[in-house]
Amino acid sequence: MLSDELVKGLNDQMNYEFYAAHSYLAMAAYCSAESYDGFANFFLVQAEEERFHAMKFYNFINALGERAKIQALPEPNNSFSSILDAYEKALVQEKEVTKKIYHLSDLALDAREHATINFLKWFIDEQVEEEDLFDSIIQKLKRIENDSNAFFMLDDEFSKRSFTPEAE
Ligand SMILES: [Fe+2]
Ligand SMILES: [Fe+2]
Repeated sequence: MLSDELVKGLNDQMNYEFYAAHSYLAMAAYCSAESYDGFANFFLVQAEEERFHAMKFYNFINALGERAKIQALPEPNNSFSSILDAYEKALVQEKEVTKKIYHLSDLALDAREHATINFLKWFIDEQVEEEDLFDSIIQKLKRIENDSNAFFMLDDEFSKRSFTPEAE
């Protein structure tokens, strides 16, 4: 039997992953409005990934015999000054997620809830990849700042990105 605190923590994280999807959708909309279809596609795929993360929590909560509670989502940030700004804000958000996953893991460790500890390991690895991904794109964008050809090539590259859920 999981503690109420741990169930609440898992539930909050599910909702935060839905919020992250929402937030990436706002970034995609900004890129679309600026006619950067590749960057827009990147964020649309990212939003799908976050929804997939949320559903992992949803399914896990169900499997524990608990009930997921779907909450209202806060309005995400809709204002960006550039593509780089969107990626920088994305990295800040991913760092926030990492903090939350670590906190949740601490709770599970304290409660010796091994199934939950194991479940959260996937997210710990995922966050390393997410932070690394955004960090490297930010570095690239900074390097090609005044090179519009390279910028459009990156936009084109991202138009090919698609959502592939990782095997369990
Ligand atoms: Fe996520
Ligand atoms: Fe993420």
